[in-house]
Amino acid sequence: MPDWKSLPTRERLIVALDVPTAAAAHKIVAAVGDSALTFKVGMQLYTAEGPEMVRDLVSSGRRVFLDLKYHDIPNTVASAVKEAAALGVHMLTVHSAGGGKMLRGAVEAAAGVSPSLVVLAVSVLTSMNDGDLQEVGVPRPVAEQVPHLVELALGSGCQGIVASAQEAAELRTKFGDRFAIVTPGVRRAGGSPGDQARVTTPAAAIAAGATHLVVGRPISEAKDPAAEARAILEEMK
Ligand code: C5P
Repeated sequence: MPDWKSLPTRERLIVALDVPTAAAAHKIVAAVGDSALTFKVGMQLYTAEGPEMVRDLVSSGRRVFLDLKYHDIPNTVASAVKEAAALGVHMLTVHSAGGGKMLRGAVEAAAGVSPSLVVLAVSVLTSMNDGDLQEVGVPRPVAEQVPHLVELALGSGCQGIVASAQEAAELRTKFGDRFAIVTPGVRRAGGSPGDQARVTTPAAAIAAGATHLVVGRPISEAKDPAAEARAILEEMK
């Protein structure tokens, strides 16, 4: 496992390619240039353009964070993880709520193909509140369900989690330093929050214990995406 604390800053920035076409994605990647190494391919782009998008990024020397949040029976998830590993992705996501068997299946499948592949667990979606959890039969409040699922994920061998900066600090205190925390909702000091309800600056997210930041529109919609990425890297230092 990498020593998360000593990762170079450039390896901590993930640029989200939240666009509908490969052409739009490649435009962002080209505009970012060498300022970032890792790009997030999520449901939208993957559904539209498929594995070719991932192959193109990997073959051009970029790293891919495949954010498809797998959640299915253990055998199906393990099979999907094997395919993602074979594509050469660097990080991927699974839902902790799929349970320990599913999580262990994902971790074992990843390790079998690509030992450096980082399996990240999603806990409670930040769009859900206590009432939404009750609706799906979870009586615990979000504040208790998140650490519960994180403990399950780390105990099942996941190398990291996706969490807001607000959650990160508490999770570091509870569970220590030996796992990755990937944090979205990052905006530079003074930047526009867009539709993100709670935003954190790059420096604050790192201080809270995040190892990686996922940044989408502030970079992809910037006039100069490379300069914006560099400014974020500066603030992370
Ligand atoms: O454009 P922006 O920087 O807001 O994009 C952040 C990325 O992180 C998007 O891909 C979004 O789906 C993802 N994300 C988020 N909040 C979460 C989980 C994921 O913004 N709680």
